[in-house]
Amino acid sequence: MTKPILMVTRRLPPAIEARAARDYVARLSGGDAPVTAADILSRAAGAAAVLCCPAEKLDAEVIGKLPESVRVIGTFSVGFDHIDMAAARARSIPVVNTPDVLSVATAECAMLLILAAARRAGEGERTIRAGHWTGWSPTQLLGTLVSGRRLGIFGMGRIGRELVRMAGGFGMQVHYRDQARLPPELELVAIFHDNDESFLPMCDVLSLHAPGGEGTRHWLNAERIGKLPQGAVVANAARGTLIDDEALIAALRSGWVAAAGLDVYNGEPRVDPGYLALENVILLPHLGSATTETRDAMGHLVLDGIDAVLAGRTPANLVK
Ligand code: DGY
Repeated sequence: MTKPILMVTRRLPPAIEARAARDYVARLSGGDAPVTAADILSRAAGAAAVLCCPAEKLDAEVIGKLPESVRVIGTFSVGFDHIDMAAARARSIPVVNTPDVLSVATAECAMLLILAAARRAGEGERTIRAGHWTGWSPTQLLGTLVSGRRLGIFGMGRIGRELVRMAGGFGMQVHYRDQARLPPELELVAIFHDNDESFLPMCDVLSLHAPGGEGTRHWLNAERIGKLPQGAVVANAARGTLIDDEALIAALRSGWVAAAGLDVYNGEPRVDPGYLALENVILLPHLGSATTETRDAMGHLVLDGIDAVLAGRTPANLVK
């Protein structure tokens, strides 16, 4: 039996490319350069499945032009805000993603951002690399403790819940804001808020974990920042679109927000130059799920989903 064609937009971990080549006529990506809409469309000719990444925008126009042969889109990510789901549904093309398997890695990354921002790790590293370190001093680069502080989580999905578990190790009191209260077994020790007015003043540290997209666009704006305690720390390992950069940069400049840790950006890989000029921001290049184990697990999960759709089964990781 002829194997179906699987078009892969970017280079994938070796074990995943090997599995793809074993089970499909795999059109693997030789390089790892950003991919244009025209590349996607030309390389998808005759493909039964397209495996894309969050860096590629599959908007209504691209999805509308995908060849008739495409029966499933897989995304190497849990987030699917880069895919126009209405357009995919209109063409009856199911989308599969990678939930659960990256929750621990992404929560770890959020904790890394929180610690690095609060303890001024970026500034410290830059000081050494610039050859400016003259030795220990009682007043050098004083940050703020994370242990025992109040952590606010905006978006209490799987990643947010992993962060609650980790925050327990730091004795943090956790508050969360979401559309609805979670059942007790998922809520763990976190305290639910159904409004920003009660939630934001509790956030000595605010960590964003809601999905991207129009519903959460620029959620952290000047008005909400103004409701945080003075000297709060902000971390974002979710999507850059959650933050109004102008407002956060102004608050970092004034010191209302003491420090921020960012892994994701509006319009990435572009980073607002306002952040680059600030010492009190630690910037990572979208590393949330970037561990070997996690990326392998993501690859296997997305291929499981593609396999299932092409075999006429309903995959567990179908985006609904
Ligand atoms: C995701 O899966 O959505 C992440 O942002 C990729 O690391």
